Amino acid sequence: MAIFPQGEKPIGLASDHAGFETKKYIIQLFEEQGIRYIDFGTYTSNSVDYPDFAHKLGRAIDNRDCDFGIAICGTGNGINMALNKHQSVRAALCWSAEIAHLARAHNNANILTLPGRIVSQQEVYDMIIAFFNTDFEGGRHQTRIDKIPC
Ligand code: RB5
Repeated sequence: MAIFPQGEKPIGLASDHAGFETKKYIIQLFEEQGIRYIDFGTYTSNSVDYPDFAHKLGRAIDNRDCDFGIAICGTGNGINMALNKHQSVRAALCWSAEIAHLARAHNNANILTLPGRIVSQQEVYDMIIAFFNTDFEGGRHQTRIDKIPC
């Protein structure tokens, strides 16, 4: 199945060292399918701090350079926490295609966050397909999203 990315803008990618291999797999997938992306790092498997890359992607969402992104660290938790400090970001930590689908349908998530050390390439592929092929349902879910900012 082809990936149909939401939006016109390139998809932002960010990872730390623990998500680097998964990000390389995603980049290969995107290049095969001609999907435009911006890689905000990290660019090697040397140990780094996930907030440094989360904030690069978060700023790109805040300033509308990207409408959507994918972020990966070892568990997904650290990079997801840092991303969700950005006002325009709704990053969803996902580990199954069903959760990725519901993150779009119910939460209007704009970043798919993945636990690189936990999920297989097949699971990553299935989550990307689910996430980028699902529209936000709006309605009662919009009411709830409107209450998220504090
Ligand atoms: C790195 O070792 C690891 O702590 C990081 O990738 C992530 O899992 C943190 O939440």
